[in-house]
Amino acid sequence: MSQNKKIFIFDTTLRDGEQVPGCKLNASEKIELAVALENLGVDIIEAGFPVSSPGDFESVQNISKVIKNATVCGLTRAVKKDIEVAGEALKGAKRPRIHTGIGVSDLHITTKFNTTREEILNRAVEAVKYARSFVDDVEFYGEDAGRADLEFLARVVEAVINAGATVVNIPDTTGYCLPHQYGEKIAYLINNVPNVDKAILSCHCHNDLGLATANSIAGVINGARQIECTINGLGERAGNTSLEEVVMIIKQHESLGLYTDIKAEQLNPISRLVADTMRMPVQPNKAIVGSNAFAHSSGIHQDGFLKNAENYEIIRPEQVGADSSKIVLTARSGRSALAHRFQKLGYNFNRNDIDTLYQAFLQVADIKKEVGDGDLKELAAKFYPEVAIA
Ligand code: KIV
Ligand code: ZN
Repeated sequence: MSQNKKIFIFDTTLRDGEQVPGCKLNASEKIELAVALENLGVDIIEAGFPVSSPGDFESVQNISKVIKNATVCGLTRAVKKDIEVAGEALKGAKRPRIHTGIGVSDLHITTKFNTTREEILNRAVEAVKYARSFVDDVEFYGEDAGRADLEFLARVVEAVINAGATVVNIPDTTGYCLPHQYGEKIAYLINNVPNVDKAILSCHCHNDLGLATANSIAGVINGARQIECTINGLGERAGNTSLEEVVMIIKQHESLGLYTDIKAEQLNPISRLVADTMRMPVQPNKAIVGSNAFAHSSGIHQDGFLKNAENYEIIRPEQVGADSSKIVLTARSGRSALAHRFQKLGYNFNRNDIDTLYQAFLQVADIKKEVGDGDLKELAAKFYPEVAIA
């Protein structure tokens, strides 16, 4: 039997992702995405922030009724009213979770809450206890844990676990940490919080420095067992950890000894669904789900790829539900890519023909960004009008 450890995938596309300006979803769109996320295999769906608006309350309520296997989670501040409203919204859920928390960095404690560490500790414990009076599964987040004092953070983690937290989220809210720092933070908590084995530690990393994925992976390498992430990396400011990236890193690097229950072949379809529904296009060079993720355009790469795809691809597109790999013809392409494309179009040119066509191709490619099949057919007709398509 596999000794690999399971990493729980906590999807927050419908909460942190939906906070992105322009990504607001209506009730039926939220349900459609929640069902798609459940089919993808996520373990926890953060459905919204119920106290924030009547619409979000209703969405969490509707999603709670529809979702059968995944845990449905509602966000709250460490405020009684928030927790009561979340408890109410989650009533119909098979597996409800309340996600409550408060800022734990000195910056948040003094300039956001104008209070003391001791007061924050008390409020954290009270919030968790109160949330436990509504549901059995309570996750606590220590906001801005990435910049919090480590010893104080460890005290908070110990106290909230004693108060009944089942999961403790260590957010790098501002995306500030370096991967080794975030990993060391998790390792410190694992090694210094006496009751840490009674809860799961969770990574929630933002992407302000482009390190969200690296930080989350550093977290699980050091003992965290849950990653909070979103489809296409959507989230506040520069976004969250991208679900498709962490899932494929864990899959491709078996030596990590970790696994998730995500059905990888659904990653591209759900990425497109989220991009369309949230009206937020995916950048072409985005790992795993960008339109160029399996496109090869330089001559050196194309030649190597055509000899053996593994020379330039570590993932086959079908593994992640993407369209097949593409050979894009540009002014940087070489003869082998050109010959390959002509062959696909049904022409049978020899080496000398390709040499002639290649010079003409470069002239077209210098004018156009990408040379298409129509351009190639025109070239073939111009230089070899007698050659019939095989
Ligand atoms: O980034 C953050 O700290 C959050 C919390 C609410 C979990 O989104
Ligand atoms: Zn966040």
